[in-house]
Amino acid sequence: MIEKGNLISEGKAKSLYETQNQNELLMVYRDDTSAFDGKKKEALKGKGEINNKFNAHIMQYLDKNGIRTHHIENVTDTESLVHRLDMLPVECVVRNIATGSICRRLGVEQGLKFENPLFEFFLKDDDLGDPLINDNHIIAFNWGTEEEIAIMKEKTLIINKLLCKIFSDVGLILVDYKVEFGRKDGQIILGDEFTPDGCRIWDKETGESLDKDRFRKDLGDVVESYQIVAHKLGISI
Ligand code: CDP
Repeated sequence: MIEKGNLISEGKAKSLYETQNQNELLMVYRDDTSAFDGKKKEALKGKGEINNKFNAHIMQYLDKNGIRTHHIENVTDTESLVHRLDMLPVECVVRNIATGSICRRLGVEQGLKFENPLFEFFLKDDDLGDPLINDNHIIAFNWGTEEEIAIMKEKTLIINKLLCKIFSDVGLILVDYKVEFGRKDGQIILGDEFTPDGCRIWDKETGESLDKDRFRKDLGDVVESYQIVAHKLGISI
């Protein structure tokens, strides 16, 4: 029986609690959904459960394919047990197709396909609006080492290959996504989550968005779309 201890942190869609084991934490997926640095907020019924199960499926698949993750097991419909990591304060984004912030930032045409997946670092800092940073910033401000930067890039791009394949096999395109890493016992391990809250997924045939862009752009049926993706990937909710 896992005991839910002190609240360690409360993010926009998840809460993290201590457990009786000081090396393991309880991650609770809430229905809360936010966009535009928290300016748009809503609770979407059932999203927490879908994301918890979605994340477990992806993390297990990555673990099986050589990417170590913090995921241990799901303990309830909305809660999972994870290894405690010392998180690096950076977000690793990979883009296969241009949309979102890169179009606003660089004036790139929406829908442009990158020949090679494009990797970007962002600083995890809501007050600053998660600004784009590069390797030199990470070194200069001691957010990570040269070796850790190389490992994060390498792992994020392997994750891209592995995930593009499973999405493509069921008629979906993985457009872009964000992942975060942490340190444990001298290793760099995938932390946080992989859910439709943190990636863009398009239907191959129709080009329809099936991810958090539905919420950002008021397209409706957010949870239903997450469910469609989960169902296609063989995740039972
Ligand atoms: O979402 P937005 O257009 O503001 O930013 P982006 O840089 O285009 O986001 C790239 C990918 O990372 C998208 O799949 C976002 O959902 C995800 N992301 C995230 O999950 N959390 C952030 N703080 C920023 C981006």
